[in-house]
Amino acid sequence: MKKKILVTGGLGFIGSHTVVCLHEAGFEPIIIDNLSNSQMSAMGGIKSLIGFEPTFVNANVNDTEVLSQLIIDHKPEAIIHFAAFKAVGESVEKPLMYYENNVVGLISVLEVMKAQGISNLVFSSSCTVYGEPDQVPVLETTPTKPAQSPYGATKQMGEIILKDNASWCKTQCLRYFNPIGAHPTAALGELPLGIPNNLIPYLTQTVAGLRNELTVFGNDYDTPDGTCIRDYIHVMDLAEAHVKAVERLVQNKQEENFELFNIGTGNGFSVLEVIQSFEKENNIQVPHKIGPRRAGDVVKVWADTTKVNNVLGWTAKRGLDEMMRDSWNWQLKLQKN
Ligand code: UD1
Repeated sequence: MKKKILVTGGLGFIGSHTVVCLHEAGFEPIIIDNLSNSQMSAMGGIKSLIGFEPTFVNANVNDTEVLSQLIIDHKPEAIIHFAAFKAVGESVEKPLMYYENNVVGLISVLEVMKAQGISNLVFSSSCTVYGEPDQVPVLETTPTKPAQSPYGATKQMGEIILKDNASWCKTQCLRYFNPIGAHPTAALGELPLGIPNNLIPYLTQTVAGLRNELTVFGNDYDTPDGTCIRDYIHVMDLAEAHVKAVERLVQNKQEENFELFNIGTGNGFSVLEVIQSFEKENNIQVPHKIGPRRAGDVVKVWADTTKVNNVLGWTAKRGLDEMMRDSWNWQLKLQKN
């Protein structure tokens, strides 16, 4: 019988791709998602790729009764906890909403896990915990910096909560760098609600004519071309990292109960390099202008991936060109619908 994996936020951007990869790796994904930042159309995409709709419950993870019943009914081997809010700016405006969803949500998941005797968890953390690092690339041992936003604080708190529960809960804590791209078939991708905050959805919507122009937030930073540098990672690589993390948990291969991994490519690209790559790969111009710096932006951050490569046995396989191609194909698909 297939091992069941409960995926909270399984209809979201990273969750939906991970559901497909879990199925392909021989697991049975079970989804709980309250559609607060996702859409049922993601289920259609999942079905088109795996041939059926996985079990799905429309509920908030804070509803511990529903979550408990789901766990009693399915007895998952592990939980991947994606369900969380992720917009930095919004978290500054609505901090309580972020703490409620991201921190109380994690506590609910842990309480139900403990009550039901489940002890394997994969947690979505973020490179935001490093803040503006003193040195790049960042290692898992690089000291974290005070959070720049309530969103960042919720990720730091999540890590602390999980470390404090390591006596009974085995955690794979994955610090994502900048996830972009889409499924290569364009069956799944990111569905930003409203005006996107992040670079790639804004860029693809601009090229699609939905936005006038992309603003590059500052070109006077201390980087080779003056624009900020990030470690962009293809969402399929990220999804595959989750499968590796789940396998490590269910095969009981963890060396410590709380394990931390950087999930990036190890390569940093500037905003202008991203635009150039998009233009070259898709043979289409990106209307853009240079604007002022965005408050709170980190100048440069990219991952040292030695630990994840050697210990988890995972390496990102897809390059920036592929990320640009898949992001654009996804936008084209959205236009058709
Ligand atoms: C932020 C968070 C990250 C979170 C992610 C998802 C930090 C340091 N990072 O990533 O943890 O997971 O959001 O919400 O808190 N840019 C432009 N023009 C635009 C949009 C972006 O030039 O219209 C630039 C930004 O200045 C930045 C780069 O593109 O240099 C990437 O920005 P973005 O996609 O918003 O992600 P981060 O801010 O890096």
